[in-house]
Amino acid sequence: ASLELGLHSHFMQKEIYEQPKAIADTAEIFLDGGFIAENFGDDAPAIFKTINSIKILACGTSYYAALTGKYWLESIAKIRCDVEIASEYRYRDVIADDKELVITISQSGETLDTMEALKYAVAQGHTHSLSICNVMESALPRSSSLAIYTRAGAEIGVASTKAFTTQLVILFGLAVTLGRVRGHVSEADLERYADDLRQLPGSIQHALNLEPQLGVWAQKFAAKPSALFLGRGIHYPIALEGALKLKELTYIHAEAYPAGELKHGPLALVDENMPVVVIAPNDSLLDKVKANMQEVGARGGELFVLTDLDSDFTDTEGVHVIRTPRHIGVLSPIVHTIAVQLLSYHVALVRGTDVDKPRNLAKSVTVE
Ligand code: G6P
Repeated sequence: ASLELGLHSHFMQKEIYEQPKAIADTAEIFLDGGFIAENFGDDAPAIFKTINSIKILACGTSYYAALTGKYWLESIAKIRCDVEIASEYRYRDVIADDKELVITISQSGETLDTMEALKYAVAQGHTHSLSICNVMESALPRSSSLAIYTRAGAEIGVASTKAFTTQLVILFGLAVTLGRVRGHVSEADLERYADDLRQLPGSIQHALNLEPQLGVWAQKFAAKPSALFLGRGIHYPIALEGALKLKELTYIHAEAYPAGELKHGPLALVDENMPVVVIAPNDSLLDKVKANMQEVGARGGELFVLTDLDSDFTDTEGVHVIRTPRHIGVLSPIVHTIAVQLLSYHVALVRGTDVDKPRNLAKSVTVE
């Protein structure tokens, strides 16, 4: 194992650091091949023309990728998208729709609940399915009409990192592709989206360079009983993923909320013992997020702000800021993910937990 790990202490750390390459390799599908339906399978051109909505089924971290992808699919491709936890979907009455594309997302391609949810969808009358997986020829892509693979390489750490960010790259590529097929993406837009993808590995590298600062933050989390993660819009799912990573790796109770919902309950939890991580890039929701942060500050909560260029936050008493040196734009959720991964990793180091094999968890869950 030490040979495989190279200079890294854990597979998780190694896999976090492989992200610039994993993301560049995955983005290449679209940068070399274009945003064309054929990337998703031979039948994709025909299927993409007939569908008018999307349902994504997944579990765990892959479910949070789906929640993020929904924003791109609806804003770029203008296609209605629902996201559902596979283990819930498979046990409820559903309304079949042969114009709906059922997408499953899975690192392993073998998660039983996701597989059963797909079978259930098909049995109910859904005819079109697409699987987004990291493991070639695994059960889900073999059972789907269409398949596309993330190019993350083998992921060993139980807590998913590079599989998640490469899933996001595919979902973005899908949104742009569908947007093009559906006539909502111009040639100029295509160029801009391709450029965003080209810049992404560099932006990820910038985020990795924040590791020492996140290590300092980790000291402040390690002794806390719980933590709150806030985000808005497309960064809300990244807050969810941040809270999941903290739970999995450090056994600290963590919850994520859309920041606007704070006042409807979770604000009651906030005191000086509750670190609050806020994902606050410089986007159209920034002023709203700032107002939510004031609600936290006024109750004595300590704020840990992850942001990007030009968002005019300053480090003050009770407000800590870590900033990536670029404004990322549409792919910002992918860049902010790196910071929450590194934060949880460092809290785990301080707490001495088993980073690569958290207690009670398995890499892929092939039982119910
Ligand atoms: C397990 C893993 C998680 C993963 C989930 C879904 O619970 O511990 O990291 O997100 O399964 O796995 P999949 O292979 O379907 O993405």
